[in-house]
Amino acid sequence: MTQQDGACDAPEALVGASAPGSRWSDLIETDRVHRQLYTDSAVFDEELVKVFGGESWVYLAHESQLPEANSFLSVRMGLRPVIVIRDKNGEDLHAVFNRCAHRAATVCREESGIAKSFQCPYHGWTFRNTGELVGVPWARGYDDLDKSKMGLTTVPRVESYRGFIFGTMNQDAPSVADWLGNAKPWLDYWIDRAPRGAVSVNAAAYRMGYRGNWKLAFDNAGDGYHPSFSHRSLLEMASRMGDSKDMSYFGKTPDDGPMKVYSLGNGHSVIDQRPVYDGPGSFWNNQRPQPGRESFEEAIRAEHGDDADRLLDLAIGAQINLSIFPNLLVIGNQIQVIEPMAVDRTQLTWHATTIGDVPDAVNTMRMRSQEDFPSFGEPDDQANFEEAQRGLAAPEAEWIYMNRGLGVADWQSTDESGVVVTAVTDEIHMRSYYDEWQRRMGETN
Ligand SMILES: [Fe+2]
Repeated sequence: MTQQDGACDAPEALVGASAPGSRWSDLIETDRVHRQLYTDSAVFDEELVKVFGGESWVYLAHESQLPEANSFLSVRMGLRPVIVIRDKNGEDLHAVFNRCAHRAATVCREESGIAKSFQCPYHGWTFRNTGELVGVPWARGYDDLDKSKMGLTTVPRVESYRGFIFGTMNQDAPSVADWLGNAKPWLDYWIDRAPRGAVSVNAAAYRMGYRGNWKLAFDNAGDGYHPSFSHRSLLEMASRMGDSKDMSYFGKTPDDGPMKVYSLGNGHSVIDQRPVYDGPGSFWNNQRPQPGRESFEEAIRAEHGDDADRLLDLAIGAQINLSIFPNLLVIGNQIQVIEPMAVDRTQLTWHATTIGDVPDAVNTMRMRSQEDFPSFGEPDDQANFEEAQRGLAAPEAEWIYMNRGLGVADWQSTDESGVVVTAVTDEIHMRSYYDEWQRRMGETN
């Protein structure tokens, strides 16, 4: 259930006391944010409208989930129920609200499929998959029904960037490519690992919920500070395997190592783990143990000779954690989606991916790799999210700090495009996304 503990337990001076048009900016300081942003239903309700698709882009789906003409997929834009559809020509994409124009019931109750039209199960109104109302049962009962005004509400802008589909209610938003900005080369790297960039999201997803605010997941996705402590069991397992380096580099004062976090603008950030690896085959060589690993490697090396290192690396994650604000996380080989459900409830979905032009065995092993972190690492993170939400219930302790790295001059450098690169434990990812959060909420610094 939604907590109703927001505005009433924050100090009065914190609410509505800032510049005209600014509602929440007093809750965000350079180095800290107020607990109310994680506990107040009024903040949450506004986020669903403005942060999740009202002002700028929000991730909806991957094109491979809409494989043919008239394919549809049920998703959410914030809490808005939305159907993403591939048009009858098999190319263009659009989205409509899954909400009957008559009495509001959802017209589509399936997660995915093929449909030229949707008939509302409540009173039988029928809509083309483009949204037009085409059928109303017993129409004589209406004196003057203008069908052209009773279609499904459409999402005005839907755009795909190399298979990643985003939507916004803001007709004037920049293109997705412009908005991705400095995050684009990182997403390109991830896509281009696949031969010809052919990435597919598979039907099965790893879906889990936690009792905490959605931003706790975003706070964590760019956080290189916590793995040494939160994921100790994984690190210990990797170190027990002798020469396996996977994630063990987080355990040795990572600030002094070659891993970096990049603040990319528009709320996006990335952790780059690649510098701790060296050369072809090293992603694979340093992976934690996996079922069937040895026989898989033997077969790939026997059959593919000089190409084996490349193929083995493709069975392992991309070694970047890319966070695209507000709801898309590209981690390992997975596409992870953050779905806010209530101020203190969130659903996280990990979509496994396969790639084209590789032997089937590579994709099979890729799936085994993708079971790994969601099974053995994500539970650590989700426990932290829930325990943070529990801690946030104490109203007298008001602030969450994000000041690590702030003012540590020898950590940070800025390149010509404005990207800031800094030590991997810097909390710059939080400070940057809160800038974008404020912008979307209608507030500028
Ligand atoms: Fe983690």
